[in-house]
Amino acid sequence: MEIKSVISFAEKHSQRFIDDLVEFVEIPSVSSSSEHIDDVRRCAEFLKDKMLQSGLQRAEIFETAGHPVVYGEWLAAEGKPTVLIYGHYDVQPVDPLELWESPPFEPAIRNGRMYGRGTVDDKGQIYVHLKAIESWLSEHGQLPLNVKFIAEGEEEIGSEHLEEFLENNRELLKADSAVISDTPMFKKGMPSICYGLRGLAYFQLNLRGSKQDLHSGSFGGAVKNPIHALAEIISQLKDESGQISIPGFYDDVIPISKKEHADLSALPFDKEEYREDVGAPALFGEKGYSVLENLWARPTLDVCGIWGGFQGEGAKTIIPAEAHAKVSMRLVPNQNPERVGDLFEAFIKEIAPPEVEVSVERLHGGDGFVADVSHPAFNAAKRALQKGFGKKAVFIREGGSIPFVQTMVDTLKIPCLLIGFGLPNENAHAPNEWLDLENYQLGIISSIYLYEELAQN
Ligand code: BES
Ligand code: MN
Ligand code: MN
Repeated sequence: MEIKSVISFAEKHSQRFIDDLVEFVEIPSVSSSSEHIDDVRRCAEFLKDKMLQSGLQRAEIFETAGHPVVYGEWLAAEGKPTVLIYGHYDVQPVDPLELWESPPFEPAIRNGRMYGRGTVDDKGQIYVHLKAIESWLSEHGQLPLNVKFIAEGEEEIGSEHLEEFLENNRELLKADSAVISDTPMFKKGMPSICYGLRGLAYFQLNLRGSKQDLHSGSFGGAVKNPIHALAEIISQLKDESGQISIPGFYDDVIPISKKEHADLSALPFDKEEYREDVGAPALFGEKGYSVLENLWARPTLDVCGIWGGFQGEGAKTIIPAEAHAKVSMRLVPNQNPERVGDLFEAFIKEIAPPEVEVSVERLHGGDGFVADVSHPAFNAAKRALQKGFGKKAVFIREGGSIPFVQTMVDTLKIPCLLIGFGLPNENAHAPNEWLDLENYQLGIISSIYLYEELAQN
């Protein structure tokens, strides 16, 4: 099948592809909020219809104990390999709303960018594939390989029910390789193949000092303040050199090899420029490692939120009864989130002052991932990106997590290509999320090539 006309189709319809994405972004599919439960479902139904309209032979909603999974397929390329494309149609909450320059669910185009929640994470990148598929099927009525497409609605809340879906539908999802576009490129103009992700272990700490708030004059000096206790605990989680102090935490961490150290050092990374982008007076990370190593190949621990006591206007003299914190750890491959949870809980119990009650709640977790890049699928990806962008692809890892990736690779025993078309500064999870529309187009074109390249594997 001739590919030139498929590329011309995508070029001719580039404006419509943008208009189509607007409709998808307009649906507020915020998975974490019960208020949006109907919107999430409406979004799934919408996507199912769009899969059929783009020419897939079959598209269905699969129920889970949580938000639905959308599945579509085109399986008429006899004797050709099958690619499984994964994405997520759910999005993050929008708060703080007042910081958005245009409403999050009314996509607005400014300076070649589409602004809106989910534009890059991950609706735009789902559409990259849907539009590449549409281009092939409109031009030739055929794809160069078989395609299975799943989009889940719970990625942003930990993909809790996807493993069960996978277990129950192993045959349905059987494929030769997987492709996911849900990661950023290293930089604009640098097509990137991501071969590693970090895992995650997320906790909530709950401290109680007294049965209710106490008058700080009548009781101050006689009881331990749980906020102080929490501060003491938090200050012991990491030392000045950025090392995590939980005993046994590093036991399963695979050291960075000489080759990988050299590879990562060869990427064009400017530390000062990065610091300026972040807007911090100075960077902080585990000593002995480069910034990219600390971001991609070393684990980390962060307090994501902390609360307790009096937060209102003016002063209120109390000793609060409770204090809380959210603590997340980004893990590296071979670290197990449950084991890390056990180590964390044991350490907290050990260091917690006896005057407070402490409980550790486990919120969610997922494994990290590192790919074997010697698999031929990676060469196919390189060739496709070279053709799509006219530039050589770089190999990167990422610090974020897509917990489903390792589960899928383990269960289906297939290689997984993380080929994202986002940019690091597109404000994913933050106000004014945007998608670079040139990358949207280049992503579609590269994916058109990718299917053909994977068909030859
Ligand atoms: N697309 C991201 C994952 C990502 C972000 C990969 C940055 C590489 C770089 C995904 O939607 C996401 O936000 N994942 C969550 C997972 C969590 C909610 C279980 C994350 O990383 O925090
Ligand atoms: Mn995502
Ligand atoms: Mn996300």
